[in-house]
Amino acid sequence: MGLKPAVFLLALVPLALMVVQILQNNLGPDPAQELAKVTGEWTIRFLLLALALTPLRHLTGITQFVRHRRMLGLFALFYATIHLLVWMSFLLVFRWQAIGEELIERPYITVGFVAYMILLVLGVTSPKAMVRRLGKNWKKLHRLVYVAGILAVVHLLWILRTDVREAVVYGAVLAVLLGFRLIRSFDLRSS
Ligand code: HEM
Repeated sequence: MGLKPAVFLLALVPLALMVVQILQNNLGPDPAQELAKVTGEWTIRFLLLALALTPLRHLTGITQFVRHRRMLGLFALFYATIHLLVWMSFLLVFRWQAIGEELIERPYITVGFVAYMILLVLGVTSPKAMVRRLGKNWKKLHRLVYVAGILAVVHLLWILRTDVREAVVYGAVLAVLLGFRLIRSFDLRSS
């Protein structure tokens, strides 16, 4: 069992803080926008955390790290689902036509939605039974997480437009994590 319950509880802290802020009516002048912002940020943070575990295992030799990969990936999906629901409910009030139009006409929404669909597919195919059923294809499919990471940073760059510092920080972390894998795969091929 190990650290799993502790990681699980820690990953719920951002949700708990959000609930407290909602109950205290303490989300600033535009609560819906603030919720979209906070849930989006936790989505990308969990995605990057999940992607950091394999390099951490290789760098430290501690195999424990990768045990939490699936859970952190699922938490990225969890916060992304709340993020999507905030957009659909508070920002667009379930006006289905407007939702459809935004999905097609606003590139940052399209890109975010594709990233979300990838996380959803990866989440659905993450149980052990699915890993067994998909065999070698599982690994290929789960490489899509890199695409989801890149799309998430593009989504952010598009939203922030002028002050892109936040997107640059997340993008730099992603570049390091993907670069590590790329270099390792070259090393393994040449050795
Ligand atoms: C993996 C998927 C996604 C990630 C990582 C993500 C990440 C983020 C982040 C970090 C922000 C905050 C930007 C800020 O600091 O202001 C944000 C804002 C937002 N996202 Fe996402 N997002 C994702 C998917 C989606 C989807 C599926 C939708 C809707 C279909 C969406 C719609 C929005 C909207 C409307 C905002 C607020 C934009 C604004 O401030 O004007 N996102 N997202």
